[in-house]
Amino acid sequence: MELIIVEDYDALSKEGYRIVEAVLKAKQDACLGLATGSTPLGLYKEMIAGYKKGLSYKKVTSYNLDEYAGLGEGDSQSYRTFMNENLFSHIDIDISNTHVPDGKNANLESACRSYNDMLAKNVRDIQILGIGVNGHIAFNEPGTDFESVTHVVELSEDTVLQNARFFDSASEVPKRAISMGIANIMEAKAVVLFASGPNKAQAVYDTVKGEISPRCPASVIRTHAHSYLIADKAAAALLQ
Ligand code: F6R
Repeated sequence: MELIIVEDYDALSKEGYRIVEAVLKAKQDACLGLATGSTPLGLYKEMIAGYKKGLSYKKVTSYNLDEYAGLGEGDSQSYRTFMNENLFSHIDIDISNTHVPDGKNANLESACRSYNDMLAKNVRDIQILGIGVNGHIAFNEPGTDFESVTHVVELSEDTVLQNARFFDSASEVPKRAISMGIANIMEAKAVVLFASGPNKAQAVYDTVKGEISPRCPASVIRTHAHSYLIADKAAAALLQ
């Protein structure tokens, strides 16, 4: 794993884009693994700016990490809506080539199986990740098996509270979600984990210096042959 420490959030987004842009330039029909949350927003702004300067996403496909149970297309807090609003509607990607787990499926287990089948057939050239304050990646909370594939997750109390900022109140945050598993994430040819801000400092420390263990799901990326952790100074503070 290559550890890249940058000054601030802006530098983190630009550094991430440098890696993503290289993939997109090398392969017009690249397959991207995408994340939601606050951290990748700067990267998505850079990707939109790249499109405005002439980079095309027409042949690109994408697979998102996760979706809340019960939410999807048309729901303001769904990850599908987040992706449409923050990236897809600003670039020339074919929306039918963008994939988010089907949180609205009445049979969540079957939604997991179909997502998993699609992932198996479509290896991501690069996987973007944010990190939770508890070291989670996607909705893979501490304790999740490194061999896990797409599954239904009961969200931890911590994660519900962290995500309440996107809802009117914590009670509105769905308590379950569909998430890619850690094995799916690790199948990507390259993995880029972003960490920004002081509340991520402990998780970054555990990821870099701790034991490689499901206790800190993000630590798994140290075992990937082509992975990066891009942290701003605040998130890397405990590493000095
Ligand atoms: C998002 C996701 C989550 C977030 C993580 C960090 O699709 O799966 O693991 O990446 O919770 O969230 P932010 O970036 O909002 O701090």
